[in-house]
Amino acid sequence: MMHSEPPPDDVPSGLHTPVGSRRSFFQWMTSAAAVCIGLGLSIPLVGYLVSPAFKRRAQPWVDVGAVEDLPVNEPKQLDYVTSIRDGWMETKAQKAVWAIKRPDGGVTVFSPICTHLGCGYRWEQGDHAFKCPCHGSVYDREGKVIAGPAPRKLDTLPWKVENGRLLVMYKEFKAGLPVSQEV
Ligand code: FES
Repeated sequence: MMHSEPPPDDVPSGLHTPVGSRRSFFQWMTSAAAVCIGLGLSIPLVGYLVSPAFKRRAQPWVDVGAVEDLPVNEPKQLDYVTSIRDGWMETKAQKAVWAIKRPDGGVTVFSPICTHLGCGYRWEQGDHAFKCPCHGSVYDREGKVIAGPAPRKLDTLPWKVENGRLLVMYKEFKAGLPVSQEV
């Protein structure tokens, strides 16, 4: 005896499943979940990208000495100690900048890092030039490149004078570029 499937019309009306609606619902749920995951991933990423900009703004002014102690037209290395915070850890680090006082009382403060590949340089009084020992870059007292592979002049740092004290905002710049670009 042969049995055959009843035609769809024979299914009692109460057992019909709204297939189209259910599919739409699952598609909607999948999309919503994808959006939530995307947001969950993108918020930390945005924070990671944006936070360095805020950190950069948080650089403190550091006192590097009395302005009257700077000789006129002669670069001087100014050493100072700064605190570096890494999570819960706080360590002290010795840093330095080069400053030169102009006859009009203005000051130029140079980053102590050679713009070629980041070595430290020094002022050679006999040659009236800043010289980098690593690959031979030479800068004049204005920080302009006069010899060697340095791609740009020395980077300068913001400064101000308060109560006779020279305050400097230390920054770091990318080496090897033709223009100054903060790290
Ligand atoms: S790092 Fe100074 S010349 Fe190369």
